Amino acid sequence: MSTEITWLGHSCFAIRSGKYDLLVDPFLDDSPTAPVKAADVAADFILLTHAHFDHMIDAVPIANRTGATIVANFEICEWLKGQGVPEEKVIAMNVGGGADLAFGRAKMTPAKHSSSLPDGSYGGVAAGFILELGQKRIYLAGDTALTLDMKLFGLEGLDLAVLPIGDVFTMGVDDSIEAIKMLNPQRVVPCHYGTWPPIAQDATAWAERVRSHTAAEPIVLNPGESFEF
Ligand code: NI
Ligand code: MN
Repeated sequence: MSTEITWLGHSCFAIRSGKYDLLVDPFLDDSPTAPVKAADVAADFILLTHAHFDHMIDAVPIANRTGATIVANFEICEWLKGQGVPEEKVIAMNVGGGADLAFGRAKMTPAKHSSSLPDGSYGGVAAGFILELGQKRIYLAGDTALTLDMKLFGLEGLDLAVLPIGDVFTMGVDDSIEAIKMLNPQRVVPCHYGTWPPIAQDATAWAERVRSHTAAEPIVLNPGESFEF
């Protein structure tokens, strides 16, 4: 089973796995770099790493339109239900836990970051995901600092890691190289950069450093670009 991943700018990814469309961290209508609008994306499942607006602001309208199920931490799921998302359309998790879902397995990994909702509500703790899609294991870091936990996330073998490299709000380029050494993924895709001037990065220079300092294959996408593996 092949897996197709499309970068929709910032930390938003569309993942097509088998017959399922997964949408990670939807931030489209107000994103300066998103190639599509929230009204135009498909989703069977929407995965949210944390509660910050630039990771979930379009989740409710997309879920309402598509009927997608939202996978997020307990606090975000409670907030979503308060926004009118039906109880049967949310799947609550917390860090360290995993669940077998229709598309595969999703495990919530700890991230070093904050997580307040757009209205100031407590959004639980920030997280990432390890997805098992068929035989493939994908780590989506979410917003995070470099953390020794990444050594653990890499233990079972990762086909792909998706890491923030923008600096300022998350780890930057230098720390991403150390993260890749610990995670030891076959491939690595950068995100959470280039959306606004404070998080601008030279992704080509980043890819050179990944090639010379790690065993991973860097895959730099432009917003709207996909790759299959
Ligand atoms: Ni954040
Ligand atoms: Mn963010």
